Amino acid sequence: MAKKNDDFFKEKKSWSEVKDSLLGNYLKPYLQKILHTRKSIVYVDCFAGKGAFEDGQPGSPLIALQTMQDCLNHTTMSDWHIEPYFIDLNYADDLKVNLKEYPGINIVSGKYEDEICTILEEKRGCNVFLYVDPYGIKALDCTLFDCFATHGFNSIELLINMNSFGFIREGCRVLGVNFDDNDIFEDLVEYDSTHLVADENSKLALNKIAGGDYWIRIIEAKRRNTITAYDAEAQFADEYCKRLRQGYSYVLNMPLRIKRGQVPKYRMIHATNHADGALLMVDNIFGRWELMKDIQTGGQIQIWEENVENEMIDEADVRQKIIAHISTFCTAARLNQVMADFYSTYGVICRTKTVKDVYRDLEKSGELVVLRRPSTTPKGRLATYFADEKGKQTILRWKG
Ligand SMILES: C[S@@+](CC[C@H](N)C(=O)[O-])C[C@H]1O[C@@H](n2cnc3c(N)ncnc32)[C@H](O)[C@@H]1O
Repeated sequence: MAKKNDDFFKEKKSWSEVKDSLLGNYLKPYLQKILHTRKSIVYVDCFAGKGAFEDGQPGSPLIALQTMQDCLNHTTMSDWHIEPYFIDLNYADDLKVNLKEYPGINIVSGKYEDEICTILEEKRGCNVFLYVDPYGIKALDCTLFDCFATHGFNSIELLINMNSFGFIREGCRVLGVNFDDNDIFEDLVEYDSTHLVADENSKLALNKIAGGDYWIRIIEAKRRNTITAYDAEAQFADEYCKRLRQGYSYVLNMPLRIKRGQVPKYRMIHATNHADGALLMVDNIFGRWELMKDIQTGGQIQIWEENVENEMIDEADVRQKIIAHISTFCTAARLNQVMADFYSTYGVICRTKTVKDVYRDLEKSGELVVLRRPSTTPKGRLATYFADEKGKQTILRWKG
């Protein structure tokens, strides 16, 4: 169901709360870590909105600014430099009013796709974080994400709200495939949804968004009824993440479903070249998943544990995947890199603790060689930690 965007900011919806808390809870540890690189941080909220909702709840700009303020109040470092930018096509004036307590920020009135390259042009060597939260899909140009990956930033991270089901619907429309699943949209209130016509230009527009034409194969399978619209969405999300991995080593996604078994309202996709960042996001996704489950079940307790895709967690299957993955590391690799690669390959299917527990078992059985620096505890005992952080390094190698 398409909706005019005027009332988006009337009150903050539950799904926006999950989305915002994914951002806020990630930004805090991200900033704490990245401040230590002593390079400037450029934060861009590319579709910033009004800054706050009319019911008084903070929007993504206020959440980010409050988090930055909090981190800076608690750091002992004095030479930090953060440049926040807020772009919005329609609400720059509201942003000026709602963010007035934060001097030194940049509010840009215009289109993200027109403004972003100018903003980032001179930022080589900086740490860049882009929050990309549009209503629909039309501004999500994948080639821009590729350019950012090679622009020479010290680091670049993206958190993208991708309306993957909206993409599938448009793909069906453009290729003339009957989309008889309109009832799926009943509860999926969409703001300012994209509407393409069936012509060659629209096909090119979708190629640009997807970063290739792999989506056509998925829509053709839907035409032949060999897959459902649900499968098509999941396959597209999977392929899109793989495509982003051409520029970013670790890409994770969290589907936000308002009801169990429903197609996701959208997927939050995180792309980074840093293993530590990806792992912070894994734990963050599990933290937000608790909130999402409450929304889906109305607070009712569930007997079995589910992963973010609403699939029952099959412990044996998860364990088998962890072993299949680590067994490909026959040369030594850092723990965090191995783990981040695991999640990027299999998705956020279990907590980081579960992965470490399996590694521990494999170390005991002699199948995994684990090297630790330091190798002993402060009391002189043999160290048993699985950690890759300041003052602790863990290196893994599969022995088989
Ligand atoms: C989903 S809302 C953003 C909500 C915001 N992130 C928050 O949490 O408060 C999308 C915003 O994108 C703006 N917008 C639409 N097209 C745009 C474009 N091409 N470039 C930048 N902003 C755009 C709309 O005015 C709207 O405020």
